Formats: sequence, structure tokens, C-alpha cells
Amino acid sequence: MIQTPKGTYDILPKDVHKWHYIEDIFRKTCALYNYKEIRTPIFESTELFVRGVGESTDIVNKEMYTFLDKGNRSITLRPEGTAGVVRSYVENKMFAELNQVTKLYYMGPMFRYERMQKGRSRQFFQFGVEALGSNDPTIDAEVISLAVNILEQIGLKHVKVVINTLGDKASRVNYRKALIEHFTPVKEELCSDCKRRLEQNPLRVLDCKVDCEHPAMKSAPKIRDYLTDEAKVFFAEVLRDLDSLGIKYEINDNLVRGLDYYNHTVFEFISTIPGFGSQTALGGGGRYDGLVSEIGGPEIPGVGFALGMDRLILAIEEEGIEVDPKDNVEVFIVAMNETRTFAFTLLENLRRAGIKAEKDFFERKIKAQFKQADKLNANFTIIVGEEELQRGVVSIKNMKTQVQEEINIDNIISYLKQRMEE
Ligand code: HAM
Repeated sequence: MIQTPKGTYDILPKDVHKWHYIEDIFRKTCALYNYKEIRTPIFESTELFVRGVGESTDIVNKEMYTFLDKGNRSITLRPEGTAGVVRSYVENKMFAELNQVTKLYYMGPMFRYERMQKGRSRQFFQFGVEALGSNDPTIDAEVISLAVNILEQIGLKHVKVVINTLGDKASRVNYRKALIEHFTPVKEELCSDCKRRLEQNPLRVLDCKVDCEHPAMKSAPKIRDYLTDEAKVFFAEVLRDLDSLGIKYEINDNLVRGLDYYNHTVFEFISTIPGFGSQTALGGGGRYDGLVSEIGGPEIPGVGFALGMDRLILAIEEEGIEVDPKDNVEVFIVAMNETRTFAFTLLENLRRAGIKAEKDFFERKIKAQFKQADKLNANFTIIVGEEELQRGVVSIKNMKTQVQEEINIDNIISYLKQRMEE
């Protein structure tokens, strides 16, 4: 039997209502904050992610689905959404509208060749936003508040916001030096990835899952001791804005994030429900002031986040949030062989009138048709009998009250609409 490729899974009709639920909340909330949807390709030139996400990251080093297409171009299935959105922003010169924040949102599948575990797959889904064009720390707070609003509407109670700053360029130059000085004496005790990271991007060493227990990790210098005054002020303003909205957060010096494009604010949304497994980050994001220019555009700042939809679904289940599948039908038509053509046209007319309706397609006996109506939780059944049809009527039965009435065939829709409103 052919099965789903390793690292992927089907989202089945019995579960899809949970996805619609979170997607609807996401779309509606983005619209309230004046974000517009953008759809970019699922594959891009490999170079985009090498430059955008960064050569020192695990994503670029180990996790990309990269291949040569038939024209010998190096193509990569997108491992995240930000690089593609920024590419499109530059390519379509969206920055031409001066003094505007360009607010974009997206959702869709992303691909990373990772080790499978609960909450981690090779095809997964994100929804995310990017706000491009403003240096104002308030936009960082807006982006965070948008994510918090979405998580709250979904109904999640066990989520904390963890935040840190990576400072500006000057802060990171100083910090980088301090990290190299700190880790170089123990370099030989670190994993091979960290040896490489120490040369390419020492900040990444702090993110290592292999060496996280090494004593040098705990005693590592903290970014907060290397921040410039400007970077301190910027972070303080983001926190002030979050305070003004009453958004609770935890400052974590070790939060560096797994992508190279960040500066200043970085944050994650962590599920705190026990038993969630080790992949507790429901989402993350931050500011990336150098990314637009890295990708060939002008010096334009940006900030955004992405939420992992697969993990949001796990969190909904883990927190016991019930989502109504709303999969019952309003009307089920019970018909005999002789009345099937009438039943079929009635079915279509009901649907065109906006009434969710279904009928039998197996030429079942009347009793079996009623059983099916029960199974579909129909609120009403319309019984189309031969003799009644000749008189120009059908019987409509309210399945809750069991009340059955004869209705003129011209009045079926108005009768149902009236009853549905009661
Ligand atoms: P990220 O932290 O790499 O950030 O991914 C965001 C979220 O996607 C994670 O917190 C997690 O919920 C989900 N995720 C990541 N990898 C997997 C996986 N293998 N399986 C299931 N879920 C996963 C970004 O991607 C940035 N582009 C976010 C951003 C937007 N920063 C600024 N703007």
C-alpha cells in the first residue's frame, strides 16, 4: 500500500473543522488589524533561503528540501514564509508607497527535513504576518498583541509569551566578540555543529540542543550586558507598549531564535500545558531590519511572527477545547423511486436557497432513508410521496418535535426558512 511520505500526514474530514476554526479566527483578526493576504510560491530559488534565513542556521544546513529542476535551477521548498514574503515585497516594489507600513499575512504549508516527533513534521503549516516599513517599537507590540489576540480567541489558556532582544548591529558586534572569547577555550568539548557555529554565528551556539547542558552555556555572557543605549531604549519601549495592553511576558536572555535575520525584539509563544511534549513553541517571531536589503531591496525594517498550525491543533486537543464540527444537514429528503426526479430538483433548489440539504443516493428503502437522516442529524425531513406529489404537497417533519405537516410544494422553502429562524 502506498502511504503518506515520512514526515507528512493527512488532515481528514473528521478533523478539518478544527483547522477551519483557527484559520477563520486568523483571517478575521488579521483583517481587524488591517493586514492583507499575500500568497507566494511554495518553492523558491534556493539562494533566497541561504541569504534570507542564513547560512549558519540548522534550517539551511540540514533541513531544506532542495533539488535541481529540469532546467538545472536549484529550487527549495519553502522552510518558512518570511523570506518569500520579503522577496515579493522587494520584487513588486511594495516599498514605493512611502511612509506606509505594509501589513501582510499568509498561511500554508512549509517544509523542513527534521526528525519526526509529536508536534514536529516535515510538512507543517504556518500562519504568519509581516509588517514592513516602520522602525517604531509600537509595531513590534502590535504584532505580538495580534498573535496574543488570536491565541486567546482560539481559547488557549496555557500559553506564555517569552521575549528577548538581540539589540542592534553594534550591540551584536560586541556580544559576538564576548561569545567567541567565552566559548573558544572549550571549543574542543563542543559538538561539531557548535564548532562551526562559533565561527559563522556564535549566537547560534546558545541555541544548541546537544550542548545545552555544557557548563559554558550557563555561564555564557548575556546580550543584555552588551546592548547599546539605543537598543536598550528600543526594547524598553516594546515592553512599555505590551504593559499598556496588559500583555504578560517573560524575559528570557537565552532566547535567540533559529533564524539569522533577527535583530532587536525576538519572541515566542510557548504552550505550558503539561504533557504537550518537547515541541512547546506554538509560534515565534521578531524584528528583521536587515532582511529587505539582504534580499536586494532598500534599507527597510520589518517585524512579524508565524504560528505553527499543527501545534495549535495539538494545543486545542490537549486543552480540551471543543470545536463544533457544524456538520449536520438542515434537511434530508426522503423519496420513493417514482418521485426521485422531483426530489433531485428540490434538493438543488434548497441548496440554491442556502439550505444545507442531502438525499439518499442508494435507492434505499424508506426506513433506511430515515436512518440516514438521523445519522446526518437532519433538523427536518421532507417526505416526497407519489400520491402527495399528485396533490401538489409534500410532508415536512421536524425531527426534534416530531411534528409533521403537509406543505404546498410552492411553499417549501419559505416554510423551512421560517421554521429555521424559530
Ligand atoms: P519558526 O520559529 O522557525 O519561525 O517557526 C514558527 C513556528 O512554526 C514554530 O514556533 C512552530 O510552531 C512551527 N514549526 C516550525 N517547524 C515545525 C515543524 N517541523 N513541525 C511543526 N511545526 C513547526 C519562522 O518560521 C519565522 N518565519 C517566523 C517569523 C515571521 N519571524 C518573523 N516573521
